[in-house]
Amino acid sequence: MSLHIDAAPDAIAATVLLPGDPLRARFLAEALLTDTVQINARRNMLGYTGHWQGQRVTVMGGGMGIPSTAIYVTELARHYGVQRILRVGTCGGLGDVAVGDVLLAQSGSTDSRFNRMQFGGHDLACCADFGLLASAMQAATRLRLPARMAHVFSTDCFYDGDPQLLAQLRRHRITGIEMETAGLYGLAMREGFQALAMLAVSDHLDTGETMPAEQREQGLVRIAELALVAAFPAAPVPAAAA
Ligand code: HPA
Repeated sequence: MSLHIDAAPDAIAATVLLPGDPLRARFLAEALLTDTVQINARRNMLGYTGHWQGQRVTVMGGGMGIPSTAIYVTELARHYGVQRILRVGTCGGLGDVAVGDVLLAQSGSTDSRFNRMQFGGHDLACCADFGLLASAMQAATRLRLPARMAHVFSTDCFYDGDPQLLAQLRRHRITGIEMETAGLYGLAMREGFQALAMLAVSDHLDTGETMPAEQREQGLVRIAELALVAAFPAAPVPAAAA
């Protein structure tokens, strides 16, 4: 048990899917896992461990933003020894991405000071685990999902941030904006686990197009399946997902 996770030491799998919303964690566990047990409800940050194609997996919420995500991720790494964390979520899109595309975040830039606080004030190059990223690209081909590698930006300000930000993101060919990836990747580097963020473009900041609510839920299941195929490339893909 750790401060924010009320689970026995062996109750959490080595592979964790991490949506932001704990209700999405429950939804994904119900949709994809068998032999499922709830492993956390502290602060309603629901987590479940079960099996997918015979592989042990935990799905747990991480909350919104780097501070919340970092609490759960740090405890998952330090107290539960997790080896890989796949963030499954949504992001705003910029430039030539389309609503519904899946961005595999190769890098995570940020306006957060979180990593600088751990890195002597210097700028950390926050990168995905290459093996997971390559595996996810192959999994996307197998599942025929419109996935692409992308640079993303994790902001601390959902509202009223830097008015110049979007122009700067476009200038640097950053095509996704969300609130967690750079913190997850920095922690992965320091704590020594593998990480990848897989993000459905839920709204487009240039065109104003948004994804309908039902499509968001179905899209999330597809991304979670993509994450599972990427994490367990040798496992057979269920007929419904193929
Ligand atoms: N900003 C931050 N996070 C987001 C956005 C956004 O525009 N869209 C989806 N997640």
